[in-house]
Amino acid sequence: MRESEVDSLTEQEAKTELKQLLPLIEEANREYHADDDPKILEDGEYDRIKKRAAAIEKRFPQLRPDDSPTSSIGSPPKEGFAKIAHAVKLLSLENAFEQNDVEKFDAGIRRFLGYGTEKALEYMSEPKIDGLSLALRYENGSLASAATRGDGSVGEDVTANAKTIRDIPKVIESAPEVMEIRGEVYMSRNDFLELNESQKEAGSKVFANPRNAAAGSLRQLDVSITRSRKLGFFPHGWGEVSERLGATVDVAMQRLDDFGFKINPNTKVCGDLNELLEHYRDVESMRSSLAYDIDGMVYKINDLVLQERLGVRTHSPRWAISHKFSAETAWTQLEAIEIQVGRTGALSPVARLKPVNVGGVVVSNATLHNEDYVAGLDANGNPIRGGVDIRVGDWVELYRGGDVIPKISAVDSNRRPDGAKRFNFPKTCPVCQSKAIRPEGDAVRRCTAGLGCRAQVFERLKHFVSRNAFDIEGLGDKQVEQFFEDGWIREPADIFNLEEKHLSGDETLEDREGWGEKSASNLFQAIRDRKRITMNRLVFALGIRHVGETVAVRLSRHYGEWSNFVTAMDSAVEQEGSAWDELISIEGIGNTIAESLAMTFANEREREIIGNIAAVLEIDPMPEIASKSPIAGKTIVFTGTMEEMTRPEAKARAEEAGAKVSSSVSSKTDIVVAGPGSGSKEKKARALGVQVIRESEWLGMVGN
Ligand code: IVH
Repeated sequence: MRESEVDSLTEQEAKTELKQLLPLIEEANREYHADDDPKILEDGEYDRIKKRAAAIEKRFPQLRPDDSPTSSIGSPPKEGFAKIAHAVKLLSLENAFEQNDVEKFDAGIRRFLGYGTEKALEYMSEPKIDGLSLALRYENGSLASAATRGDGSVGEDVTANAKTIRDIPKVIESAPEVMEIRGEVYMSRNDFLELNESQKEAGSKVFANPRNAAAGSLRQLDVSITRSRKLGFFPHGWGEVSERLGATVDVAMQRLDDFGFKINPNTKVCGDLNELLEHYRDVESMRSSLAYDIDGMVYKINDLVLQERLGVRTHSPRWAISHKFSAETAWTQLEAIEIQVGRTGALSPVARLKPVNVGGVVVSNATLHNEDYVAGLDANGNPIRGGVDIRVGDWVELYRGGDVIPKISAVDSNRRPDGAKRFNFPKTCPVCQSKAIRPEGDAVRRCTAGLGCRAQVFERLKHFVSRNAFDIEGLGDKQVEQFFEDGWIREPADIFNLEEKHLSGDETLEDREGWGEKSASNLFQAIRDRKRITMNRLVFALGIRHVGETVAVRLSRHYGEWSNFVTAMDSAVEQEGSAWDELISIEGIGNTIAESLAMTFANEREREIIGNIAAVLEIDPMPEIASKSPIAGKTIVFTGTMEEMTRPEAKARAEEAGAKVSSSVSSKTDIVVAGPGSGSKEKKARALGVQVIRESEWLGMVGN
């Protein structure tokens, strides 16, 4: 049906049409803003309807409601935000839950730095704001861009939104030429309650907590909505800066204060662990009276030179930790124990609970860890919870700490229903019925079917597309499950053949529920974008047991090229010989990891899957670390004691400079750093003609 020209509409016709159109636009706006997942209108359709409604309103202004959805500026839904690549990756923090974890953190730092227990070490202690992180880039003193965290490497461009936040300076005099400030956007508890009241009145979405409200308010395509929400900002760090902000965290924060940022008042420099823990208790005791939510404290090494020496791991810095406040607990009844089968075949018991509110969140599932945990035993076979096992029907105490998966912390055996039976942990896989075995000394029982088990195949696929692996936009767990159920995807390589299948088959993607032309073409584009991948991501994505991201990086650095890696693994399957020796000589790769790799490559189906996926990809070697360091690309072995630098620091330094650290000397070794007490390794190096240097020369190489 062709629409009549707006010009020829009668007022009555216009009224009728607006009555249809405005709710549609409203609904599309709401859906978009509520969950980023608009379904009711396709992009083009939204544009067209909104334009027409606006034209009608223009001709009949008397028909235009004051709050007409046509007035919301902003792009159509789905288009979303532009992307911004972070110049310096946004990291996460390791969590400490107990005092003991904090002690371990301090001890680890001392070990790394070679500091004894008596040596002073200052920490900055700050509240951990429960909001969302934002990176503000200032160029020549003006706010040039603001980006959300995203996946840590690429975030969303929310510059216009950030500019509406009062706590964020738009212009800073005397700022360094380039300065990226990071901090937390939050909403106060009062503003959150008020917002929800008015949302409720307007029939709009209410937010679950201040954090979600802050995130939902910042990520608005319609900036006027962000402006109408009350958001705050506390800075807590920085990324790229063209000039140092100070020698310590507290001096740098003082500088940010001078720049016009609001510094959280409950920060404190602490001289030792006791002071840290005291500050933790102080802030925890005022937690409920603060205007905003915090979920713990963050401890950071105050001295920025030490921070730099400590450096970062894959996802988190070595120099900081977050110490979570104690968890919330609640009692409820256990309705069932289910067994889930993981990617590596591990059988994990999961508690299905009568839903209960734990600190504001409704929980109905909790982990039961493993067989022993259900039976009331710890990893060493010693009783926990007084040796009380967990039975279906039991009253259990749920424990939810910060972002950890809820777990069951206690069982009330006095309220145990009559006839409750001890849980019989299955000895076969609940999915494929194969034998599930538990090796001596292992806490975990595993399905033995490997890729013969449907659950493992499916979990492996989910891992393959997960965030730190292939991370294909539009291909999440749900979609993978759908494709897996229908047999479209059986192994990773099938993902890259989806488009071909779609083009050639009788059934196209659009015929399937939940897919449209646009989403299908977006998916194929996202898949094409991933055909080219760096080696370490692929190695990690394979989901080989014990091969996490760090190991994947080490393997990729060591072997350089994918083909070298595969050849080496194929030659190591017998778990002996030179390829095997080389594998276990790689720093951080011991027998367990090496065996797992060898077993994977020895398995025909696994090998086939690896070959298939590699065949459809373009695999880039890991980028050489941009380093003019004389040790970049070299293989280094440390032996004997070191005096100026501890072994962990030396290894970390070598890896940062692009060197490979190995634990044994061979003809492939480039440099042996030998300290006092070096014995056979130094001898072997000399015999092989490998360069042997002293610690002082090493220090010269890494620029100390
Ligand atoms: S420092 C290298 N300090 O917590 C990461 N983070 O779990 C340095 N956060 O992404 C972060 N309050 O968004 C730091 N006082 C604080 C914080 C804080 C909240 C957030 C931040 C970070 C996340 C890590």
